[in-house]
Amino acid sequence: MTEAEFYMPYKGVYLPSAIHSSESLKYYEEFTFRPDDIVTVTYPKSGTTWMKEIVPLITSGGDPKSVETLHNWDRVPFLEEVQAPILNLEERPSPRMFSTHFHYSMMPPSFFEVKPKVIYVMRNPKDVFTSSFHYHEMASFLVNPGPKGEFLRKFLDGKVMFGSWFDHIKSWLNADGKHSIMYISYEEMIMDLKDSVTRIAQFLEKSLDAEVIEKIADRCLFKNMKQNNMSNYSVVPREIMDQTKSEFFRKGIAGDWKNLLTASETEYFDSVYRDKMKDVTYKFAWD
Ligand code: A3P
Repeated sequence: MTEAEFYMPYKGVYLPSAIHSSESLKYYEEFTFRPDDIVTVTYPKSGTTWMKEIVPLITSGGDPKSVETLHNWDRVPFLEEVQAPILNLEERPSPRMFSTHFHYSMMPPSFFEVKPKVIYVMRNPKDVFTSSFHYHEMASFLVNPGPKGEFLRKFLDGKVMFGSWFDHIKSWLNADGKHSIMYISYEEMIMDLKDSVTRIAQFLEKSLDAEVIEKIADRCLFKNMKQNNMSNYSVVPREIMDQTKSEFFRKGIAGDWKNLLTASETEYFDSVYRDKMKDVTYKFAWD
């Protein structure tokens, strides 16, 4: 099957039709934010699931129940996806936690009026590509990636779900300065998770003891988080996510692209990256 059969076009990007609908997109367009909402924003495969574990643990003061009672798609729901309208999000107590894969320009009017808190997680695009390539092989609601070289071209051209990584990151880096946005990278979290949790807690204005921070960081280590059945997608039927092909918690490292991309693919990637990112001054952890 082709992109046209798997994806629906929306505001210039593809969305997987199995998990988005015109109703859910309308719901998001009309959604009313609160100033103390916390929105995790990511390009797919950049650390969304990781942040869906860290943020509830921080806001709950380290309570394990915050990540053991609800599946991550209910605990920090994607506002654009089909389940959002049926979760009674209007009735949830503050601070509500959401996630989205939308570009900045795709956000709904209330987002720009209310300016909730945003945590923007970024990851080396070569690792995003690598993770995404394996994910497309195991998720039946995504188009088959085909040969790696072909998928690489599509990824660099933005002909993949949620469009171009370059457009996504630039849209959020260029967001209006009045928004309260914390930028953090997957690589910083890999390098020092305790420090990352400390900084996220500060951003969320949640004061936590060092011991609690330590416990949260430990719980969110790849090997520990992978055991959480409310986060590891193990309840999703094999027809939808075949984790015998590739686990959702696959490797959880920085730099795995070196095991996938050939020298000429790396050169191609780098030349596109240099061109598309030439005006970006942000100093990324992977550069
Ligand atoms: P890999 O496929 O490279 O292993 P997302 O949640 O945005 O879809 O991103 C998924 C990626 O984040 C996967 O990368 C997954 O293994 C990784 N990941 C999830 N939780 C993690 C954790 N606690 N530590 C490190 N990586 C994690």
